[in-house]
Parts: sequence; structure tokens; C-alpha cells
Amino acid sequence: MAETSTTPVAPGQVPAHVAIIMDGNGRWAKSRGLPRLEGHRRGVETVRTTTFAARDLGVKVLTLYAFSVENWKRPQDEVGGLMSLLEYYLKKELTTFVRDRVRFRTIGRTADLPANIQKLLQDTIEATKQFTDYTLVLALNYGARTEVVDAAHAYAAAVAAGRENLNDDSWSSFNRYLSTADLPDPDLVIRTSGETRISNFLLLQAAYAEFVFTPTLWPDFTKADLAAAIADYNRRERRFGLTSEQLKPAPAR
Ligand code: FPP
Repeated sequence: MAETSTTPVAPGQVPAHVAIIMDGNGRWAKSRGLPRLEGHRRGVETVRTTTFAARDLGVKVLTLYAFSVENWKRPQDEVGGLMSLLEYYLKKELTTFVRDRVRFRTIGRTADLPANIQKLLQDTIEATKQFTDYTLVLALNYGARTEVVDAAHAYAAAVAAGRENLNDDSWSSFNRYLSTADLPDPDLVIRTSGETRISNFLLLQAAYAEFVFTPTLWPDFTKADLAAAIADYNRRERRFGLTSEQLKPAPAR
């Protein structure tokens, strides 16, 4: 697909939060007779281009599913390769994020990542925390069910300490304990590579999200693909449980 978008995206209709399940690195490599890690290497380049493509298109928060809790079960050399790529990526992007005013943060159990990666993550989060216009969230050692378990533990501890009251059974009081507490829910979730699964990604936060599945493999994903997904999103009617009629403005008297 062409690098520049021909699909117009009307300002004001851009989803504030786009979340992407980046899939297809392995197939991209296999179809070229290359090792899987080469697909991941190209995938990192797509992470870099998509970060800035999303901002150019007016997105405010971009969340990328980079490493799931299940990914540890992959062959050890692939896991090691992914960690090395993450290290390379973070070292390279720190100055870019500061220069281009990208707030960086993570979701997931990052305390289980190698110590050198944890240090790089903390440095990058710290160096970019003052930026407010655009946020890149990397989901690392992330799984939605794990996140819910962690949130339930924290919530139970808060109840025991008298900081939460079980009579308050609102979603907003529990939502505070999710790793995404300070982020808007994703409006649009994209999955590349033709798979149509959610794979334990933002299960609660995506309750009202629109989904776009594209056959494009992640290393081939371009700004044009992102713009096309946003254009698709714009053709949907988000009803949040209401009827279509309820959403229409009342006729002028
Ligand atoms: C899925 O491809 C890809 C992942 C395991 C997650 C995404 C990882 C990257 C983009 C590279 C690392 C990212 C950073 C930020 C350092 P797959 O291997 O499942 O592909 P397949 O389904 O074709 O085998």
C-alpha cells in the first residue's frame, strides 16, 4: 500500500485512543525465507512509523500490544531476541520521544522483565512524563486477565484498609485499579494479519470499542492502513447500548 494516505480523515472524527494488536511478524518473515526474528525487527520499524503516523492523523493515545504474558512460552531464542529488540528500541527512541514530545508509558507486569529493560522503561517514562498532547502506551508482559487479578487484589486491599466501600459498586470505583486508570478507553482496536481474535488484550477497556481487522501483516502496516481503519471507524454508529433514534439530534422546533 502507498505510504501516504488517500483516505480523508475528517478532523473531530478521529478516535482519541487507538489500540493495536500487532500480528504477523512471523508470517512476514516466513514468506520471505527469513528467520522469525527478522520479522520482529521489521515490526519494530513499523512501531516507530506508526507512532508518528497516529499522531499525524490526530490520535491522542496509541496503545501497542508488544509482549503478552503468554509470549514467554515461545522458544527461548525468540523471547531473548524480542527482549534485545526492546532494549534497542528504547535506547533509540528516548531522545526521539523527548524531541517530539511523546509521553511514554507502559501497561503490564513490567517488574517481571529483565532489570536492564526495567531501567530503560523507567528512564523513558520519567523523561517524557511532562508531555500531555500525545501518549504512546506499550503493553509489555500484559494480559487482561492478569490485569484484572492485580486490580482485584489492590481493590480488596483498599476495602480492607477502609479506602474503598463495598456499597459503592460503580464501575468507576473499580476502574481506578486497572493499569489504564488514567487513560481513556480505546475507541478503536485494530488487529493486523487477518486474525480475528482479541487475545487477552484490554478486555474490559474495549467494552465499547469498534474493531477493525486488516489482512496486512504488521511489518507491512502503513499510515495508509491506519487511515483506512480510522475511515472504517468513522462509518460506524457507536450506540453505547442506546438505540439509533436516541442518538439522532432532536428536530428543531
Ligand atoms: C506477533 O507476531 C508479534 C508479537 C509477538 C508482538 C509484537 C512485537 C513486535 C512488533 C516487535 C517487538 C516490539 C517492540 C516495541 C520492541 P507473531 O510472531 O505472532 O507473527 P505470526 O503470527 O505471523 O507468527
